Amino acid sequence: MLVSAKEMLNKARDGKYAVGQFNINNLEWTKSILLTAEELKSPVILGVSEGAGKYMAGYKTIVGMVNGMLEELNITVPVALHLDHGSYEGAMKCIEAGFSSVMFDGSHYPIAENIEKTTALVKICNDKGLSIEAEVGSIGGEEDGVIGAGECADPKECKAIADLGVTMLAAGIGNIHGKYPENWPGLSFETLEAVKKEVGDMPLVLHGGTGIPADMIKKAISLGVAKINVNTECQLAFAEATRKYIEAGKDQQGKGFDPRKLLAPGADAIKATVKEKMELFGSVGKA
Ligand code: 13P
Repeated sequence: MLVSAKEMLNKARDGKYAVGQFNINNLEWTKSILLTAEELKSPVILGVSEGAGKYMAGYKTIVGMVNGMLEELNITVPVALHLDHGSYEGAMKCIEAGFSSVMFDGSHYPIAENIEKTTALVKICNDKGLSIEAEVGSIGGEEDGVIGAGECADPKECKAIADLGVTMLAAGIGNIHGKYPENWPGLSFETLEAVKKEVGDMPLVLHGGTGIPADMIKKAISLGVAKINVNTECQLAFAEATRKYIEAGKDQQGKGFDPRKLLAPGADAIKATVKEKMELFGSVGKA
């Protein structure tokens, strides 16, 4: 059964580790992530962007697929199904479809409007026992065609949003989606500390988990980060493994590639990436 991310994140915050959010894009990614979480006895969050939602035929299809896998793969670890960077309308659709968690990304609205929309969604999520993530200070890089400026969050604004009763807060601290540029100055721990001071116990979320050096990840966790999002690294691993398989020319003569065999190396590559991240984040054995 899907669960809200609240309990797993509170435990992670108290235990000084982070739960990984791994984005899903198809059946193979979903299965690989769930099997790895179960094998490592780690809680896990499946992230779905609105673009991935459309690609996979819609939120109800995703809920059906994930619930089916939880049952038929005998997944016993806590799993949350979470909308990633949702709009207000997208969050409403996911809540209706059966997601157990949503992110409302109101970071591009003026703070007053972000507060108004977040307040409305917090009420709905609280009533239904779902977790909700909010964002302050946009996270740089490109995701689903949207380019964020990558600013550091204002700690006072973080407090204003945290006080609305969200479950977890994504605060921009110089992190960006996708690969980090050569001249990236690193995470702003100064901002993270200032945010933490304002928001107290609120579990913090680090987006753009791909390519952040291990020592920075560990320091961020020690300063209150309890959820770390990873997408690009799975994408790179999946693409590279699939490319190699195709180049090796193992097609069935006259029938093209067996679709299951074609996607198997990519699925294995995702398992390896997820395992590496869960070990780094410290969530192994915490289910
Ligand atoms: P990366 O693609 O950089 O791993 O970031 C993922 C993310 O933050 C999803 O919200």
